[in-house]
Amino acid sequence: MTERIETLTIRRPDDWHVHLRDGAMLGAVADFTARTFARAIVMPNLDPPVTTPAAAAAYRARILEAVPKDRGFTPLMTCYLMEDTDADVVARGFADGAFTAVKLYPKYATTNAAHGVNNVRKVYPVLERMQTIGMPLLLHGEVMDADVDIFDREAVFVDQVLGRLLADFPALNVVLEHLTSAAAVAFVRDHQTGREGRLGATITAHHLHITRNALFEDGLRPHMYCLPLAKREEDKRALRAAATSGESAFFLGTDSAPHAVGAKEADFGCAGVFTAHAALELYARAFAEEEALDQLEAFASLNGPAFYGLPPNEGRVCLVRDESCVSDSIGVEGDERVHPFFAGWPVGWRVETAIGDRARGTPDRDAKSDRPLSTT
Ligand code: DOR
Ligand code: ZN
Repeated sequence: MTERIETLTIRRPDDWHVHLRDGAMLGAVADFTARTFARAIVMPNLDPPVTTPAAAAAYRARILEAVPKDRGFTPLMTCYLMEDTDADVVARGFADGAFTAVKLYPKYATTNAAHGVNNVRKVYPVLERMQTIGMPLLLHGEVMDADVDIFDREAVFVDQVLGRLLADFPALNVVLEHLTSAAAVAFVRDHQTGREGRLGATITAHHLHITRNALFEDGLRPHMYCLPLAKREEDKRALRAAATSGESAFFLGTDSAPHAVGAKEADFGCAGVFTAHAALELYARAFAEEEALDQLEAFASLNGPAFYGLPPNEGRVCLVRDESCVSDSIGVEGDERVHPFFAGWPVGWRVETAIGDRARGTPDRDAKSDRPLSTT
């Protein structure tokens, strides 16, 4: 039996995929990300989506407005790719620093993806330009064909779409976002060599903790609904193995995606799990369970910057064991509040450098009916 690690200090991490939203929701969630992470790749799926350098710059300013000045937090903005996106606009935004990357949503794949891409061929001129200027492409990797089972959407995407894309753009840097399947993990590993461009992949905290069983435990569980859907136990095992492997292709991207409780507990409920309140802590929990805490820094703080060609952060964060529970809700009261992942349960860790730890409180609910997980 190895000795239990009680504290862990690592370089300050970055979140390479997060949804910060806008307006009141932005105000309620932004600091959860900023107090732990030094940088974050901010998703552009607002309504309307972020498609121009000016819109990205204005959104970045609103994010910084929502975060205390002393956080040292840098939002990295993305451009929402549409079939009629102009390659010149993308290139201009990249050159002036307004955009760090381009995000491709398959049309209708998820929240605010109605303007996404149906036919990848239509965006080939933009991808061509991105390849030339070294701008990364971030992929929501699911096919939306009606005849593909929803649990197979990612595996079919890597098999039928991504292989072709990488072959057609051998120098393009690509991130396959929020991996959920053993098939996607294997694909990423198999494509680490043989091209000039890099293939990276982000892994969320919640996909390291839940399987699809969590959606149906003791009843229908809308707060476990996200896209891509969590898969089977063997998929979760493959994700944990990849995240804790130290391999440079895999890095932290929470995909923390807040929705008001009223929008999730509804017919046509929204997809998204909110994890920003305890993101690094949730990863630490999974890494500790895998007895791989020594690999957390590579995954959380080193592999992502290396992929993006950025220096790792100079600051440090200290994780300490902590048994206090995540509170039931975040933000304003009523239907506008957000239900955090692990609500009412202890994550087991706390980021000691965190300030204004508003998400934590005392458990006050019936443990059985609200237990968050079927795992571990
Ligand atoms: O579950 C998800 N929620 N997956 C996504 O890809 C988008 C996100 C959101 O914006 O709500
Ligand atoms: Zn996302």
